Amino acid sequence: MTFSMVELMETQNREQYALHRRYINPSLARVQTIIGFDKIYVRGEGSYLWDADGNRYLDLLSGFGVFNLGRSHPVVKQAIQDVLVADRPNMVKMDCPLLAGLLAEELVKRVPTGLDAVFFANSGADAVDTALKFARAATKRPRMLYLDHAFHGLTLSTLALNGGKEFRDGFEPLMSGFDAVPMNDLGVLESQLRRKDVAAFIVEPIQGKGVYIPADNYLPEAQRLCHKFGTLFICDEVQVGMGRTGRFLCSEHWNLEPDMVTLSKSLGGGYVPVSATIARRTIHDATFSRLDRCQVHSTTFGQNELAMAAGLATLYVMDNERLIERSATMGEKLLKGLAALQERYEMIADVRGKGLMIGIEFKAPRSLSLRAAWTAAETARKGLFAQLVVMALMQEHHILTQVAGPDVNIIKLLPPLIIGEQEVEMIVAGFDAVMSEATSIGGHVWAQSVQLAQHALGRRV
Ligand SMILES: Cc1ncc(COP(=O)(O)O)c(C=O)c1O
Repeated sequence: MTFSMVELMETQNREQYALHRRYINPSLARVQTIIGFDKIYVRGEGSYLWDADGNRYLDLLSGFGVFNLGRSHPVVKQAIQDVLVADRPNMVKMDCPLLAGLLAEELVKRVPTGLDAVFFANSGADAVDTALKFARAATKRPRMLYLDHAFHGLTLSTLALNGGKEFRDGFEPLMSGFDAVPMNDLGVLESQLRRKDVAAFIVEPIQGKGVYIPADNYLPEAQRLCHKFGTLFICDEVQVGMGRTGRFLCSEHWNLEPDMVTLSKSLGGGYVPVSATIARRTIHDATFSRLDRCQVHSTTFGQNELAMAAGLATLYVMDNERLIERSATMGEKLLKGLAALQERYEMIADVRGKGLMIGIEFKAPRSLSLRAAWTAAETARKGLFAQLVVMALMQEHHILTQVAGPDVNIIKLLPPLIIGEQEVEMIVAGFDAVMSEATSIGGHVWAQSVQLAQHALGRRV
């Protein structure tokens, strides 16, 4: 019998939920079913997914920010195929592979002057973990500061920088001396930095869990304070980098000059896991400080040729299709369309974002009947209304979105950067219809509330 991947995919694709329930994560499989996300997707191209019944879905999840170029981009696909066909000498390890050098060169061209040393790894958390180690080695200091609501990954070290209790619970104790500071409070930050034991202050220039944007002066001032007290300033651009917010790096919105930057997600073109920690040369070299320490930090699959080829092709496509400009212009249109809905629907509290990273925050309605339904839902689980809107967008409009984090009434949109006017109109029309329905207590949106609340209260999986 020969092995046929095509046959496996064709004959087994209806089994995926059963397999996950049995062998992988039954809780997650059950949640997908409860919220109506249990589709059998068979194809992805551009901004869309198709299920086995031929239905098309507009994907504003983008694999949590992986598909900035859209899915199945032909240029990235070709680059990966070229590497495969050439039987390249991949991961020799005792080697200095060409493609890693080329990708490092391309990345350095795109980041602020002075960030000129690149370390490649496989995931966002890997990249952050690298930055933390580099910071300790370069400063010889033990502590790290991060922001409330921060998300930098879910490995044990990055969890110690996580501003969400929901993620930390059950895994403590975490790293000691890793402390949260509130966003926009420079006084608290300064009082911590004055102790001169902080190796690094790490920020997401716009926070992913909630789409929180700092006050205009906060990041530049925080960077100034860090430099004053000898603390390294790290911008975690894993989600907001790569053109997502209408600039290559989100930190460009404030003309920041961080000491280190992390990138991942869409750097792999939606095909191959990859991440990069880009640092000042002196910081990088403090870790690899002697010949016998030249591999003191490394990861087996870092610099692998498929990832490097995908990264090179991705950067080419971003330039060629002017995706950064597109993210800025389409983002503005989408923000404007959604902001107009805020004028009409009292439950929309805020619409915010930069480029194509957009948050829509909800608040309790004033009308008495609606308020009772809202209170019941929120008592069962904070943020349940946002989940109801996500479900309605999926069921009635075939639009995939996500709640922006645990216990928040905020929906986050991360569309591929290739979306056009047509998709912007679809998104605004979808939200308009769902919000219009949500103003009536008899509407479909609230009908799902009771069932969802029961699951939430019982925390049944
Ligand atoms: C800002 C940020 N940093 C780090 C990570 C962790 O990335 P990964 O899931 O690839 O480990 C994420 C993931 O969403 C992120 O948004």
